[in-house]
Amino acid sequence: MNSVIILGANGQLGSEIKKIEQEFVDLNIVYTDIEELDISNLSKLKLFFNNRRFSYIVNAAAYTAVDKAETEEKKATQVNVEGVTNLARLATNYKSHLIHISTDYVFDGKANKPYVEDSPTNPLNIYGKTKLKSEIEALRHVETIVIRTSWLYSTFGNNFVKTIIKNAREKNELKVVYDQVGSPTYAEDLARAILTIIHQQVHHKNIFKRGIYHFANHGVCSWYDFAKEIVNYFNFSCQIQPILTDEYPTPAKRPSYSVLHCQKFKETFNQEIPYWRESLHRCLSTIKI
Ligand SMILES: NC(=O)c1ccc[n+]([C@@H]2O[C@H](COP(=O)([O-])OP(=O)(O)OC[C@H]3O[C@@H](n4cnc5c(N)ncnc54)[C@H](OP(=O)(O)O)[C@@H]3O)[C@@H](O)[C@H]2O)c1
Repeated sequence: MNSVIILGANGQLGSEIKKIEQEFVDLNIVYTDIEELDISNLSKLKLFFNNRRFSYIVNAAAYTAVDKAETEEKKATQVNVEGVTNLARLATNYKSHLIHISTDYVFDGKANKPYVEDSPTNPLNIYGKTKLKSEIEALRHVETIVIRTSWLYSTFGNNFVKTIIKNAREKNELKVVYDQVGSPTYAEDLARAILTIIHQQVHHKNIFKRGIYHFANHGVCSWYDFAKEIVNYFNFSCQIQPILTDEYPTPAKRPSYSVLHCQKFKETFNQEIPYWRESLHRCLSTIKI
């Protein structure tokens, strides 16, 4: 009833789940990553699941290299689509609940107000396309929750926050785009939100309601504002210069506006979501520079 498996456990989200697991002593959590369990390898998955049963499958595994995906579509599809097909199939066979994570990059960014869960999708890049397909695959299983999140960062792994800290220490000036806006999300907050859903369900609160949900820290900023906040926090002397996306071309196109409306998540699971700046400060306070 309380057994949970985390796939892709060494990534940002998986590591944050591991970090806060002591807040959820009633859950029995097993962690695996690609070396032990490759989600695109169905026969290995079946073997693993034949020996152990899990009431909750949390898929934190993904191919997340957004730019590289433009030239590695097959690899991205193998993990993000076929891997999720496998997990949904296992979840059905073993009557598990599946929690799968998706992204704001399923949207094209042409909106001018926050995206709700059933806003039309139109991914601009290969990564976003594979993640959109992953949602469809995950929802083939009945007991599935898909959580779309955005601009994830953590003290673990590689992410924007760590890149800015590293570069701001070494350089006098950094150019950062200010015409892409969204909501930075601390992976610790998402980790806690996921384990809280499971905890409540284990305690018969019956809140596990199938569907897509948006979860991002509250508030909106540009990558420029985000960088500036990090640099100001540490009092780095490095200057952050705003530039346009056109001045910083990348292989993958990104939505210029990808704010997620999170009301459905808050109401369904009765959870509050912290403001992005507060969460960022909480994260930065744990980093020794
Ligand atoms: N990062 C973001 O800004 C962002 C934004 C929105 C949504 N999301 C979504 O949030 C979720 C968590 O993202 P994250 O930032 O925590 O990702 P991450 O740090 O890249 O972690 C993903 C983990 O999955 C592992 N993995 C890759 N292929 C695998 C496979 N075939 N089988 C098992 N494990 C595999 C990775 O191992 P390797 O490192 O060895 O490849 C890594 O440990 C993902 O679904 C992502 O799409 C992320």
